Amino acid sequence: MTRTPVNVTVTGAAGQIGYALLFRIASGQLLGKDVPVKLRLLEIPQAVKAAEGTAMELIDSAFPNLVAVDIFDNPADGFAGANVALLVGARPRTAGMERGDLLSANGGIFGPQGKAINDGAADDIRVLVVGNPANTNALIAASAAPDVPAERFTAMTRLDHNRALGQLSLKTGTPVSEITKVTIWGNHSATQYPDIFHAEIAGKNAAEVINDEAWLANDFIPTVAKRGAAIIEARGASSAASAASAAIDHVHSWVNGTPEGDWVSAAIPSDGSYGVPEGIISSFPVTSKDGKWEIVQGLEINDFSRTRIDASVAELIEERDAVKALGLI
Ligand code: NAD
Ligand code: LMR
Repeated sequence: MTRTPVNVTVTGAAGQIGYALLFRIASGQLLGKDVPVKLRLLEIPQAVKAAEGTAMELIDSAFPNLVAVDIFDNPADGFAGANVALLVGARPRTAGMERGDLLSANGGIFGPQGKAINDGAADDIRVLVVGNPANTNALIAASAAPDVPAERFTAMTRLDHNRALGQLSLKTGTPVSEITKVTIWGNHSATQYPDIFHAEIAGKNAAEVINDEAWLANDFIPTVAKRGAAIIEARGASSAASAASAAIDHVHSWVNGTPEGDWVSAAIPSDGSYGVPEGIISSFPVTSKDGKWEIVQGLEINDFSRTRIDASVAELIEERDAVKALGLI
């Protein structure tokens, strides 16, 4: 039986993450090799021509599961019937811009996009926000979509999760495939807390295997938390292929589930777990089953972790209060 195609909307489709992401979606890595996909590319009018070039290349790749590629320059059409939405396009911070200006500029993007999702997306819509500040942009979009369950709005910390796996692998010489239960807590920003106290390296507790709190505090945590800035410094542009790869991982885990005995990290609306105020879109250890994220419960949080989780959550509360004051939520 032929499956119904899944509509995947990608915003910022002509940008650098878009270029790395679209070909992987079209090749079946987002949802599965047997799932036909219709791509809906949403761009601002000035970038539509570049998106057309990418669409030509997608067609030229002759992906068996790619049923259609359509380009839109307005959210209402771009999100019509969307089952999955990847919100990548955002307003980058430019010289002299204050944080309030950045939040306000992004409110002008993610508010209308949330409303368009509310009004026209499919009932099973799942949203991943990649564009920064991702957690707060997701909060803005969710609050403009009162008819969509809040849990369908998520923000990406899977890149941070993957970065943590990469660093642990380098440090211990263990393949990434043997490292499990790493957690990113909090915001996708330099305050995030990559936690290895529950992680396992080849079945043994990671903190015990490494047994070096100074390395954890002074090396591992800042390396993971500031990796985005290090890549900008080295490449002269922000991470793109790794960000696209993490977006693929996030949606794949959400739709197809996470393996037994492991978890991943995703920023999802808090239900109050681990003292994170309800409604804040914060990163947690999560599993996915039947297309729903669940926060891993019952982890013991030591003082080292508590201080760092609280600091990142405090930043999210500040961002929430700032967008509230701007009338964006
Ligand atoms: P980019 O500048 O190359 O591309 C952004 C694209 O978005 C542009 O083509 C632009 O025209 C488009 N755009 C802007 N406003 C739009 C709107 N209202 N609707 C549709 N499209 C719009 O940027 P990039 O490198 O692709 O990065 C995109 C975003 O992802 C940035 O905010 C970046 O900071 C963020 N990012 C997040 C993570 C993460 O882990 N969460 C990782 C890397 C990058
Ligand atoms: C990243 O983590 O690579 C992105 O969010 C870009 C940045 O500004 O850090």
